[in-house]
Amino acid sequence: MVYRVIQWATGGVGQAAVRAVVAHPELELVGCRVYGENKAGRDVGEIVGIESLGVTATTDTEELLRLDADCVVYAPLVADKKEVAALLESGKNVVTPLGWFLPGERDARLEATARTAGVTLHGTGLDPGGITDLIPMVFSSLTSQVTFVRAEEFSDIRSYNAPDVVRSIMQFGATPEQAMTGPMLGLLTGGFTQSLRMIVQSMGFDAEAEILPNLQVAVATAPIDSPIGPIEPGRVAAQRFQWDAVVGGEVIARVAVNWLMGEENLDPPWELGSAGERFEMELQGDPSISVIIKGLQPETPEEGLVRNPGIVATANHLVNSVPYVCAAEPGIKSYLDLPLMTGRAHRKVAGGG
Ligand SMILES: NC(=O)c1ccc[n+]([C@@H]2O[C@H](COP(=O)([O-])OP(=O)(O)OC[C@H]3O[C@@H](n4cnc5c(N)ncnc54)[C@H](OP(=O)(O)O)[C@@H]3O)[C@@H](O)[C@H]2O)c1
Repeated sequence: MVYRVIQWATGGVGQAAVRAVVAHPELELVGCRVYGENKAGRDVGEIVGIESLGVTATTDTEELLRLDADCVVYAPLVADKKEVAALLESGKNVVTPLGWFLPGERDARLEATARTAGVTLHGTGLDPGGITDLIPMVFSSLTSQVTFVRAEEFSDIRSYNAPDVVRSIMQFGATPEQAMTGPMLGLLTGGFTQSLRMIVQSMGFDAEAEILPNLQVAVATAPIDSPIGPIEPGRVAAQRFQWDAVVGGEVIARVAVNWLMGEENLDPPWELGSAGERFEMELQGDPSISVIIKGLQPETPEEGLVRNPGIVATANHLVNSVPYVCAAEPGIKSYLDLPLMTGRAHRKVAGGG
């Protein structure tokens, strides 16, 4: 069985997803939505820097809605709920890193749309959509009597190749007041809260757990060189976003993101620590478990600007879910509903000739 896939947007995640679709033995790229007029009409392979694929990128949404395809890998800058509904109504499954990690009450209408159309919507990614929910849940089966779960990212944000986003949305280089009142905490809270809810629900913590968001910033003490230009003293050069699930005054689960513009000239003097950039996961139970995941961040910020493994892993998680999502029961489906989903062997060592 080969599933026909449409790629929606060719930013960092989208380009990596196209490569992952091409490498996947059960998938075939049949269409591609782009936003930049300079990309429209071009071969998708050329856009992502590989061989010609014979698939032309388009800005025409209607054309893609009419196209016969099994699944859309939906990775634009922002999610358009009406557009997602239209994709589902057109009979296409959708996988996305932009939300719907765990269906909630607000998603009832979209859930109904997916059921009526007989297709599935699945939210997945890396952080959230993997590190902060799936990985702790998998490891929790090795322990019992769990009292605390933590999943945390430690990254050098100089390797994130989206300068406009880093400056205008993430508020690096802004004043602490601007960052504290900016949109970022609100934008992130939806997805990370769903991760915490998935942990609470799957491990049987008190369902009334309150989710408390928190943001702390560190400022530059001297000019810091960065891909968005120098960060001047007193301006935001590091941020820590944290969400706690609290039961009876006790924190039972925590997800957090630490983004630093390097480790020098910061106040407070935050550091990535001796383990460097990493994802960390901790479960307190019998026995307690801690895991450090390396390899999802680049060796250097410069390498990350060219190819960021975290972005590639996000795309892989999306693309690898496609066969399972296409075969799933209709509706909005999370990791709690879907079977174990794996990657695929390289063609040179794959079975079946
Ligand atoms: N859950 C996770 O772990 C995770 C991880 C990484 C990213 N994400 C999310 O995934 C999305 C894509 O990330 P990315 O790193 O690929 O971002 P990106 O490199 O900034 O690319 C976003 C793409 O969106 C398209 N776009 C441009 N203007 C747009 C508009 N007005 N409305 C909608 N789309 C527009 C463009 O596509 P074309 O270039 O094709 O024109 C652009 O390249 C983001 O929302 C990001 O937050 C989630």
